[in-house]
Amino acid sequence: MPKKTLILPGLIDVHVHLREPGGEHKEDFFTGSQSALAGGITTVMAMPNTYPPLVTFDQWSIAQQTADRKSLCDVFLYAGASSEHINELARLQTAVPALKLYMDQTYGPLRVQGLAQLMAVARAWHPDKIIAVHAEGESVAVAIALSAALNRRVHLCHISRKEEIELIAAAKANGLPITCEVTPHHLFLTEADAQRLGSLGDMRPLLAEQRDVDALWEHINTTIDCIASDHAPHTLEEKQSDNPPPGVPGLESSLPLMLTAAAQGRLTYERLIELMYHNPRRIFSLSKQSETWVEVDPLARYTFPDHPLYTKCGWSPFEGMDMQGHIRRVVFKGKEFVRDGIIRHS
Ligand code: NCD
Ligand code: ZN
Ligand code: ZN
Ligand code: ZN
Repeated sequence: MPKKTLILPGLIDVHVHLREPGGEHKEDFFTGSQSALAGGITTVMAMPNTYPPLVTFDQWSIAQQTADRKSLCDVFLYAGASSEHINELARLQTAVPALKLYMDQTYGPLRVQGLAQLMAVARAWHPDKIIAVHAEGESVAVAIALSAALNRRVHLCHISRKEEIELIAAAKANGLPITCEVTPHHLFLTEADAQRLGSLGDMRPLLAEQRDVDALWEHINTTIDCIASDHAPHTLEEKQSDNPPPGVPGLESSLPLMLTAAAQGRLTYERLIELMYHNPRRIFSLSKQSETWVEVDPLARYTFPDHPLYTKCGWSPFEGMDMQGHIRRVVFKGKEFVRDGIIRHS
């Protein structure tokens, strides 16, 4: 039986879209970092599929400076891989924590296709620094092959299928330097939910079958390194349009969902902390935040969300879901930012 109050470290979400620059009507560094803190997350790694995308040193450093100025929590920006800007990577890797490589079609202007281009990117980035990859299905095998052949670190984003997680388990058993993350929506939702939710349940990778969800849970204590939200806010108007963009918000539902799973005995609270703090911190070499913690009531039950969402997009695919495990307080670098779901400081 868990205690009445659980103290967690400030959590780390390594896959978030904050939409600055160019998509500030969906989210910006201020609202996105409020959403993170409200969800118990004090470090965010934000994706470079912005407008413009962060593929040059100058674009990246301008965006990082804006993030530093406007964010309430720590925000670190990925750089994006682009075939036209391979020569930027040498300079970028001196300053940027990790590179993002899009191998398959998804939202935004970034994608690298063709073996020659993929090898050029994988060779240009220091082998000990992370390349985080959007790879689905057979592309997962290509990403693993690049890691094996070039002896370099690869982090596989939002893994969602049984065969993918099994292939990653086999590659890890052979000692390859690869890591992976899984999203709460791929752990909690299936195709059946996608039917019910319509475009609000549309994201990349698409929601999968029950057999895939079951396989992910089977690897929760072993192959999976991180839980990451893939917070991908789009406005309701965009999602309900004729051409809805893929992606769902997740910063404020990620910890409540994982606490719910822990309350149900699907993983331990210790494992939750490994997946949402220790492993992300180690994989991305992030420094410790002093006087930072999250207070949780693991017994409290409620229907999500029990207060208005801070994400600018204002909706969640988990609305109406019964949760157990309530975020009571978030203290970031000595200051109380959240109490009972409300941001106190801005
Ligand atoms: C993401 C977005 O909206 O930026 N969408 C999504 O469906 N996951 C892009 C991505 O992470 O692939
Ligand atoms: Zn992706
Ligand atoms: Zn994403
Ligand atoms: Zn609450």
